[in-house]
Amino acid sequence: MVTSRPSITLRPAHPADLPGLLAIEAESFTGDRLSRRALRRWLRVPHACCLVAESAGAVVAYGLASLHRAGRVARVYSLAVSPGARGSGLGGRLLAALESAARERGYTVARLEVAVTNGPARALYRAAGYGERERLPGYYEGGGDGLRLEKCLDS
Ligand SMILES: CC(C)(COP(=O)(O)OP(=O)(O)OC[C@H]1O[C@@H](n2cnc3c(N)ncnc32)[C@H](O)[C@@H]1OP(=O)(O)O)[C@@H](O)C(=O)NCCC(=O)NCCS
Repeated sequence: MVTSRPSITLRPAHPADLPGLLAIEAESFTGDRLSRRALRRWLRVPHACCLVAESAGAVVAYGLASLHRAGRVARVYSLAVSPGARGSGLGGRLLAALESAARERGYTVARLEVAVTNGPARALYRAAGYGERERLPGYYEGGGDGLRLEKCLDS
């Protein structure tokens, strides 16, 4: 028998996605998780760009960017892929879609923070063209260091 993988579509998140987003947060992060309240707020504010990846009716990944200060720096606030859906390009697709949304609104730079110890995410961001801008000692809940990365969206 041949089983084909269901196709995955990216679309803007809506409030009904909240349980799916919370589940991905819980599966993806041990600390510094976005709370229900914070996520609900992000789904409402006009300067947020929240995209989800949907497969067979289920949300399997999401990316969130804050496009607050028009025309300057877009902040990639969160990116997470459900463990079963990792390694098939979804993280990269979502990141590229957030960058496109930022570019369309006139942003020229994307910035984000990542834990020094987060090898997969650092590899993804490196492959996507992000460079290290600053080290952030004790940036995370448990005291772990972060890195601030940046990418020029002009090219
Ligand atoms: C980081 C994360 C979003 C990557 O998502 P993904 O869908 O698995 O990533 P992709 O399949 O799009 O990979 C894109 C590139 O990232 C790099 N990469 C991704 N996962 C990797 C891994 N486990 N090891 C090494 N490189 C990896 C590779 O360069 C990869 O390109 P390639 O497949 O051509 O080699 C995912 O692992 C995740 O959700 N992790 C937990 C949450 C998290 O840490 N989010 C980031 C917070 S800053």
